[in-house]
Amino acid sequence: MKSIVILISGRGSNMESLLDAVASGAVPVRVAAVLSNRPDAKGLDIAAARDVPTRVIDHKQYASREAFDAAMVEAIDAFAPDLVVLAGFMRILTDGFVCHYEGRLMNIHPSLLPSFPGLHTHQRALEEGVRIHGCTVHFVTPALDHGPIIVQAAVPVLDGDDEDALAARVLAQEHRVYPLAVRWFAEGCLRLIGGRVAVDAEQGGESLLISPAVGAARPG
Ligand code: GRF
Repeated sequence: MKSIVILISGRGSNMESLLDAVASGAVPVRVAAVLSNRPDAKGLDIAAARDVPTRVIDHKQYASREAFDAAMVEAIDAFAPDLVVLAGFMRILTDGFVCHYEGRLMNIHPSLLPSFPGLHTHQRALEEGVRIHGCTVHFVTPALDHGPIIVQAAVPVLDGDDEDALAARVLAQEHRVYPLAVRWFAEGCLRLIGGRVAVDAEQGGESLLISPAVGAARPG
């Protein structure tokens, strides 16, 4: 069975949904460890309560980004994971780190990339007046919030939405798509071809999730 290490910085709800999916058998991986760059990350308590080993690599203890990333690599590689899962990990990673885990480093981003890379995605989506927002799971490349897209979920922006309401509906979809992407990785369904991800044929239809499903939105 493949193993994963999850990197967090805070609340850890994506990590928790992954742990749930692993515990239920829906995602066939072993979670070797959860690492945080912040000692106060709430997700650390959630992981510890489930007997998942945790480590803190406090970025404030390192003089440079390179030194921090080197410490992260050492801590991660001690668990020899097949896949490193960024789940709300709020540090920009050096190219050296990203290249070290090429093809086995995933991130979730709360927008339909390539729209709205960076921070405050929900607020920016509201300001732009987009009708469709969502989230993206992608392999990480050195360019921030870019990289081959694995799965996206589309979430309609509703009249009267504020940042919190929209964020909550997107987060619910994040909790669906991240376990799905990790399952595909674990089952060997993902292939990188020319910088794009191919999901093995029988899974292909699921790599676009729409919430609510188009059929469900139809009247009558
Ligand atoms: C999520 O919205 C994720 O997409 C973004 O940071 C947030 C982390 O939330 N990268 P959580 O810590 O998983 O609850």
